[in-house]
Amino acid sequence: MKTRILMVCLGNICRSPLAEGILKSKLNPERFIVDSAGTGHWHVGDSPDPRSIKVAKKYGIDISYQRGRQFSERDYEDFDLIYVMDNENKKNLLELAPDETSKNKVRLILNELFENENVDVPDPYYGGENDFEQVFKLLDEATELISKKF
Ligand code: 4NP
Repeated sequence: MKTRILMVCLGNICRSPLAEGILKSKLNPERFIVDSAGTGHWHVGDSPDPRSIKVAKKYGIDISYQRGRQFSERDYEDFDLIYVMDNENKKNLLELAPDETSKNKVRLILNELFENENVDVPDPYYGGENDFEQVFKLLDEATELISKKF
C-alpha cells in the first residue's frame, strides 16, 4: 500500500502544485502517491500559474502537466496526510472534516520547518517572481524534511 500525501492551497495553481512537484521529485513513485488540490473552485481544470511552472523548471522540475482540482470530502479517505499551505486552508479543512481521524490528517506544511510556529506559505498570486522564488525555497526545505520522515 502506497503512502498518499495531498498538498492543499486556495487556488491550486501557485503553491500546492509546487509542493506536489517538489515532494514528488524527492520520493519513490512506487511507494508514494502525491497530489494537490485547492479549497476554492475558480481554477478547476487550469494549468499551474506560469510563474510557478517557470520557477519549478528553473530547478529541473516539470509541473506543467498538472491540472487544478477542488478539494473534496473524499480526499480525507483517499489520503493519509494532508499538508495545507496556510492557516486559512487549515481552518477550511478542519471545518469540512467529518471526523477526528480526518482532522488529524491535516498539517500546516511549514510546521515541518518551524515547529509549532504556525507560519503560512505566503500566497504569491499578487506578487512577483521573487515571491515565487521564495515560495519554492520554503517548499523545497519543508518537503526535504517530509521526505526524510519515511
Ligand atoms: P494559490 O494562489 O492558493 O497558491 O494557488 C492563489 C491562486 C489564485 C487565487 C488565489 C490564490 N484566486 O483567488 O484566484
